[in-house]
Amino acid sequence: MRNILSLSFFVILLFAGFFNLASCTYDKGEIAVTTVCDTTQVTYDANVSEIITNSCISCHASGSSLGDLSDYSNVMVAVNSGEFKERVITNKNMPPSGALPDDQLQLISCWLQNGTLQN
Ligand code: HEC
Repeated sequence: MRNILSLSFFVILLFAGFFNLASCTYDKGEIAVTTVCDTTQVTYDANVSEIITNSCISCHASGSSLGDLSDYSNVMVAVNSGEFKERVITNKNMPPSGALPDDQLQLISCWLQNGTLQN
């Protein structure tokens, strides 16, 4: 009887430990930043603009009625309205074909976090 009690206590400890670990690993909705996020490593010209050219311009070219993302000042219109972050990072429904890959989401989050510089 004593043995069974201590065995179940052990099993409970084991599970508690497991769930405790599991809760630390990955928090959905938050993007783990693995690249260095500062204004020299992540820039509009080198990173954000390239992602937009490759994944957004086909639908959001200059003068597009869906929202013009053809240059920094037009991108800033979408940033300032909150739509840019909401679509790309929060809801991940732009581009409509599916979320950008994690590394690109990280670069964009970093740029947003650092104050959306034109750098
Ligand atoms: C296949 C076409 C397509 C691609 C590619 C695409 N979008 Fe869109 N986007 C749309 C359409 C259509 C709408 C308008 C309908 C809607 O609101 O969902 C839209 C709307 C938006 C809006 C809201 C505009 C506003 O003024 O309210 C933002 C911001 C946006 N897209 C950002 C992006 C970004 C950033 C990318 C690239 C990462 C992207 N989109 C790629 C088709 C596209």
